[in-house]
Amino acid sequence: MCGIVASVGNKPCRHVVLQGLSRLEYRGYDSAGFVCIDQNHPYFSFKKEAGGVAPIQRLIETATFDGVIGMGHTRWATHGVVDEDNAHPHFNCKKNIAVVHNGIVEGHDEIRSQLINQGHTFNSSTDSETIAHLVSSLHSEYNDLHATLVALTTRLKGAYALIFLFEQYPDTLIVVRHRSPMVIGIAEQQMLVASDFLAFSDITKDVIFMPDNTFALITKDTIKLFTFDGAPSSYQVTKVDHTHKPLDKEGFEHYMLKEIYEQKRAIARTINFCKIIGSSVELEGTLHNFSSILQQNDALWRQLGLTKDRIKNLRYINLISAGTSWHASRIAQFFFETICKIPTRVYLASEFRYMSFFDEPNSIYLMVSQSGETADTLEALRLLNSFEQQTIAITNVASSTMVREAHGFMLMQAGPEISVASTKAFSTQISLLYWLAHRIGLERGEVGQEQMHHAEEALMLAAEILETSIENYKFKIVQELAPHYATFDRFIFLGRHISYPFAMEAALKLKEISYIFAQCYPAGELKHGPIALVDEKTPVVIFSVLDELIYHKLVSNANEVKARKGHLIVFAFEGQDELINLADCPFVLPRITPLLAPLAMTGLMQFFVYHITRQLGHSIDKPRNLAKSVTVE
Ligand code: G6P
Repeated sequence: MCGIVASVGNKPCRHVVLQGLSRLEYRGYDSAGFVCIDQNHPYFSFKKEAGGVAPIQRLIETATFDGVIGMGHTRWATHGVVDEDNAHPHFNCKKNIAVVHNGIVEGHDEIRSQLINQGHTFNSSTDSETIAHLVSSLHSEYNDLHATLVALTTRLKGAYALIFLFEQYPDTLIVVRHRSPMVIGIAEQQMLVASDFLAFSDITKDVIFMPDNTFALITKDTIKLFTFDGAPSSYQVTKVDHTHKPLDKEGFEHYMLKEIYEQKRAIARTINFCKIIGSSVELEGTLHNFSSILQQNDALWRQLGLTKDRIKNLRYINLISAGTSWHASRIAQFFFETICKIPTRVYLASEFRYMSFFDEPNSIYLMVSQSGETADTLEALRLLNSFEQQTIAITNVASSTMVREAHGFMLMQAGPEISVASTKAFSTQISLLYWLAHRIGLERGEVGQEQMHHAEEALMLAAEILETSIENYKFKIVQELAPHYATFDRFIFLGRHISYPFAMEAALKLKEISYIFAQCYPAGELKHGPIALVDEKTPVVIFSVLDELIYHKLVSNANEVKARKGHLIVFAFEGQDELINLADCPFVLPRITPLLAPLAMTGLMQFFVYHITRQLGHSIDKPRNLAKSVTVE
């Protein structure tokens, strides 16, 4: 899961490629490399580096050579440790073919053994190096580039976006795409290729999203596209209206903190966008009236690839996602079931793909993904499309592959999220899905116009609480609580009903940035095993709910913890005195409509975890071993 950028033109390309790479850091930042064909002699010059976030920067600062054709790569290790040998580009034995790769080659061990038997010598333990040797072997056999690529794509299994440079073809970028995205940019006397067009969005807006299972031979002024059987293929040039805007931290110490504080505005933008989306009428006056306007027209349903009749007949809603988006989906399950009264199931994308599929009429599938690129979610979407199911992308990125491939889409308005640990994407996903549940309910007659309006107001109130609760506890967290809790080695997180998926998200946040071990359980399961872990060295964090019955069950669970001398941290709501009084560390928030309790608690939870991590001095925005966008399965 890596970032790839390449350029061919009549001017030196190093700057463009390395700048593009720095924009693709979100795809991995273990190591980086750059190779070009030198202007002065027709041989490769290259440099690669390993070691955290810094290699790209060092490459930019220290690479001296340049060329009119070149490519770069930023890596997130899948096969082989993070070191210089495993960094891309990889080469064949003669070092006259270079490759950069995003994806995973399935069965690469077998190919590697065959190539070693033929006399090839490997320098890395990656699956990607196999491709360089394989293409070299095939090229010796066929002595023809086109035939070589057809043979290569027949042999290679898995997912791959590849760019090759051959010293023998010093004016040609050779690009192959199978299940991993690749975009070609057309500029003046220059062609660019990247795994995300953001890499070159300041140079050209004219792009070709390479169709799946194609390869391309690209010179500075020509593009030849072929399907994997070798037949020429036509392509479509799309104008993309989006430019990379360099973002700074605007005075915040980390992007994560900035993004925590952006949530109130991001939620407001998302709700307003939901209200006006698809509305074909000229909007006047306050946003107050938008829902009634929407009720009369079906622009929203068209954008979702649905009809009013389809909504009325809807029998099942399915949400498919990964990571933090899965937690948001699990919370949203309560929205769809409670508000629209539609049975709703939530699947982890990586599991869904290998489960038995039952075709249930009148179902829809919401693919929830911040990036719109997560490989497992994307493959689940493709699988569902192949079963002719209704797929809808719920994402933050309008230009993403999921938006292009799903039958419909809806966009959160979180704005770019830079910190690897997701914050505002999570809260805007919850907000959007809460709004959508009401909107579907409105269409089906489960929800009245007044209730729809209240839902929009409640979302804004939750956003307000999300922010003000941080302010209320800011001083205490920074001065007292974070230094104290940063000394613990492990935590237990508990929730019930709608606060259980929220507790899972809190545990994930703590794990991914602080590297503190965190175990999450539904509170009712405590007595079935995890209670054996409770002691004074393991703080237990309980997230309350606003449902009276479930709240009392949580109080019982809190008592169970205290009876074992456990240390209790509680996120509760005003008036929940029984729970608050049991806590060693209580956080108390204003009350809100019960289904929005997790959204209200989101900011304070994230802020608490952020400051524990800050005490530990870790790399908060780019935690070890992680990447923002996981484009491998
Ligand atoms: C990665 C990110 C997480 C994110 C998950 C799913 O693991 O680090 O923050 O929740 O991918 O990503 P998506 O873009 O599909 O929401």
